[in-house]
Amino acid sequence: MCRLQKSYRLGRDIFGVTFLAPEIAIRANPGQFVMINYPALYGFMLPRPFSVGKADPVSGEITLIVKVIGRGTEILVHSDPGSKWGILGPLGKGFPDLYPDSLLVAGGMGVVPILFLAGSSRKPCRMIFGARTASELFSLPHELTRSGLTIIETTEDGTRGIKGTTVDIMKQLIPEVGSIYACGPRDMLAAVDKIALQAGVKGWLALEELMACGVGACLGCVVATGEGYKRVCQDGPVFEVGEVVFDDCSRS
Ligand code: FES
Repeated sequence: MCRLQKSYRLGRDIFGVTFLAPEIAIRANPGQFVMINYPALYGFMLPRPFSVGKADPVSGEITLIVKVIGRGTEILVHSDPGSKWGILGPLGKGFPDLYPDSLLVAGGMGVVPILFLAGSSRKPCRMIFGARTASELFSLPHELTRSGLTIIETTEDGTRGIKGTTVDIMKQLIPEVGSIYACGPRDMLAAVDKIALQAGVKGWLALEELMACGVGACLGCVVATGEGYKRVCQDGPVFEVGEVVFDDCSRS
């Protein structure tokens, strides 16, 4: 069981949550996730997946960023420090190390694994962080950012940062980019995939899928790839650009 250390508000409905989980903190790589089991008293049968935002092998702590979207996440972010939680992980395949001239592309809560990736390297890099509107573009916790990371904020309605989408900004920057690392909504990933392929830039995409088991047993998270169906929880969540077959409608 892992001890909840602290929970702190980052935005209207977004919280940082830190657990003492030494065995996970030592092994976790950017892009991997954990499954959290709720204490039996809450009556939830299935564990819930959360991307790891930071893992500190020295302190033994892992940090998640949690958006409140229902009763389960509401309970989690308002739980008392010291409460004990069953956490399984780290799970899945993560990102490769950052290459020079990397561009990180994060849509909404997709910023969580991207921040872990940025924090795992000392290389200078740029990160596009986008959302529909300012209220979804929460303040990134100081402990999850670092010097040498340039953050370009963008909102679709222009209420914060540059007006436009992450993909709009990516199109402008792609000629200077050596590799792409992205996480966010599926239509954003489909567009990133298409642009990277057309530009001949290598890249990796972390998919956000609903997961029931997290360990490859239920087949509830499969996606089509050029080599047949693969499980996001075990064969991903990170896939190479060109590997996943996105719907035609989201490729336009
Ligand atoms: Fe069960 Fe992926 S969540 S196989």
